[in-house]
Amino acid sequence: MMKIRFFLVFFLMACLSMPMRGADDLRLKSPDGRMEVTFRLVDGKPYYELTRDGKQVIAASQMGFELEWRDDLAHAFVQKEVQRSTFDEVWHPVWGEEANIRNHYNEMLVTLEQPVGSVESMDHSTEKRPTVMQIRFRLYDDGLGFRYEFPMRYNGIDNALVCFWFKEELTQFALTGDHTAWWIPGDYDTQEYNYTESRLSQIDSLYEKGHEHGGWPWTDFSRTGVQTALQMRTDDGLYINIHEAATLDFPTMHLNLEKPFTFRTWLCPDAAGYKGRMQAPCHTPWRTVMVCDKATDALRSRLILNLNDPCALEDVSWIHPVKYMGVWWEMISGKSTWSYTNDFPSVKLGETDFVHAKPNGTHGANNANVRRYIDFAAKHGFDALLIEGWNVGWEDWYGKQKDFVFDFLTPYPDFDLPALNKYAHERGIRLIMHHESSASTVNYERWMEKAYTLMNKYGYDAVKSGYVGTIIPFAEGHYSQPINNHYHYAIVEAAKHHIMVNAHEAVRPTGLCRTWPNMIGNESAMGTEFRERIHPGHTSILPFTRLQGGPMDYTPGIFEPDMGKIVPWGKPMSHTICNQLGLYVTFYSPLQMAADFPEHYAPYMDAFQFIKDVAVDWDTSIYLYAEPGDYIVTARKPKIASLNKAAEGVGKLPDGKKGVVSSAAQYVYGLTEPTSLTGLTPRDVWYIGGITDETAREFSVKLDFLTPGKTYEAIIYTDGKDATGLPGYTYNPYSYTITTKKVTSKTTLKLKMASCGGFAVSIRERR
Ligand code: NOJ
Ligand code: CA
Repeated sequence: MMKIRFFLVFFLMACLSMPMRGADDLRLKSPDGRMEVTFRLVDGKPYYELTRDGKQVIAASQMGFELEWRDDLAHAFVQKEVQRSTFDEVWHPVWGEEANIRNHYNEMLVTLEQPVGSVESMDHSTEKRPTVMQIRFRLYDDGLGFRYEFPMRYNGIDNALVCFWFKEELTQFALTGDHTAWWIPGDYDTQEYNYTESRLSQIDSLYEKGHEHGGWPWTDFSRTGVQTALQMRTDDGLYINIHEAATLDFPTMHLNLEKPFTFRTWLCPDAAGYKGRMQAPCHTPWRTVMVCDKATDALRSRLILNLNDPCALEDVSWIHPVKYMGVWWEMISGKSTWSYTNDFPSVKLGETDFVHAKPNGTHGANNANVRRYIDFAAKHGFDALLIEGWNVGWEDWYGKQKDFVFDFLTPYPDFDLPALNKYAHERGIRLIMHHESSASTVNYERWMEKAYTLMNKYGYDAVKSGYVGTIIPFAEGHYSQPINNHYHYAIVEAAKHHIMVNAHEAVRPTGLCRTWPNMIGNESAMGTEFRERIHPGHTSILPFTRLQGGPMDYTPGIFEPDMGKIVPWGKPMSHTICNQLGLYVTFYSPLQMAADFPEHYAPYMDAFQFIKDVAVDWDTSIYLYAEPGDYIVTARKPKIASLNKAAEGVGKLPDGKKGVVSSAAQYVYGLTEPTSLTGLTPRDVWYIGGITDETAREFSVKLDFLTPGKTYEAIIYTDGKDATGLPGYTYNPYSYTITTKKVTSKTTLKLKMASCGGFAVSIRERR
């Protein structure tokens, strides 16, 4: 009885607090008519609602902002004009998962006004000019985007809002049930977490578990705070994803579960606690709700990219995909160090004498070791080599939080920067520059122009930057408006120098790579460097979440996952060799690493062949099977135009080797020697990749995407019968089989994956 009474009271309260549908509702349908967004003012307060096939996806949800020193942008609104339009185009990304992307939406721009005298102004009198806020809705077949806009003037009258500061964003996402969610804890400083799969109602009780094995520093704000992109699945099997697009000059959006199933936007504050300092004319980023019937459709969605502006660069000829290796895993695994000497308890830039310091004997970025990697990368047709720990200052970079930590210019005595670049270029390889800012954004900006100029001088065209530690200026978080502006500044300045950027620990991407395609990578999630701490299902969640905003430098390719074989304290990672191969296809990035040591590839050169053959930029992608946290199977067709672009770029350097053919181009053109592509036509090629969590699985893959009438040769890399990537008594990540088979569009392949395993297939037209 008690229970029934409680339920009735709850139901009545819910009805009373829910703004009802009305005749004045503004409605907008998606191009296919299945989605509908409704906007309404209830007593001057703005609300939106989203349905698919007539069923609520987002129930009536509040919109608006709390302002500092002024009445909120959340009430006293009257509706002014409503503009509607339709847009349909096909655009072509500089690099991406497909060569052609359709951007098709219906749009509704609603202008709202707080009339003169209806609200309090900053000086506590009543506002003497109308306050104008517009909400732009874009509805796609696979989701909704909306943003708030603040014109400088409306209808010839100046907006009362000129410079204004947000205290809170009030946008809600009222979900309609206790959906299953894949979430990482809300945090102002790190995204390096494993995902937790739970019901929405369990987020609070799983708060501690959600933080296990995460990155550092971490700054949480609520037991029910989560980050976006947040992937959910309803009990009816609908896949809902909340994220944001085009976050520029604005703090990052997190979500806080405030009522059962209702999230409210939670912006990352700046050091003074503000959540967006605005100057009209301006707008917020897009708030997005993707809705798909199938998990594979969520991987196919280009909602986030479409909501970003077209390319801002006129000349993109210098931007190219990169397959690279690195003097990197040595440091991550503990085998080598970034630092050069153990002589000093503390080092100071410009004062510490590194030239006469005693080398510690463990410095990875030394001339001989770098040459060894260059030789291996060149022999196997890679484009580039990353070298970390080349510049002075690594002796006390970590945990010290020094402002003047690196100068990004001065190499250690055993790193001959000009000579190594020449050595690399002569072999068809570019070196990738490394700038670890150690989160001192102030210091990085101090040196940036000189550092990029140095890169230009020696022919570097890509930089990996990093933001490990607590941000300087102190008290800023990694995702506040000023620091988001820093990341963007680095991209824009790099573009002026024709430099591509791969930032680690920077803000998670929101599709800005469409506008700034020199942003070829980002980490911004838990990557391979977390080693044994990575859960088996992690890599089948990331494409639904982190990768929605842009590619990730996940750094796959670890063929020796038992880290105990490298250092005594090392532990086994949860994956098989074939799982690592599968990642090159399931995980999209135009910047893709083969992260392990050359000597770890040496015993498995037949499996390494797939990493050599696989492309990293795509004409077409087909998502065959997927379920977040469980498995992904993807097929991709390479984009021919960019297959050898990196190699051609090296050839144009004064000291660069001419006529280099990348290993992927060799495969696609059917060459056995890296001779020349002149006069050759590429063959029809596809790659298929699969990955699974701790559950072993089998998939039937129909090759009906191949061209009918053609015959192909498939090379199939699968986990061996005794393979398992799950650490324990039977741990055997090394076992695989490679078979070659004649296939056509009528063939169906049966592909098995071991626990924590995967598979890879390369398919080439026979001639
Ligand atoms: C963290 C980065 O994610 C990692 O890749 C890098 O090696 C270290 N910082 C040092 O910069
Ligand atoms: Ca990192």
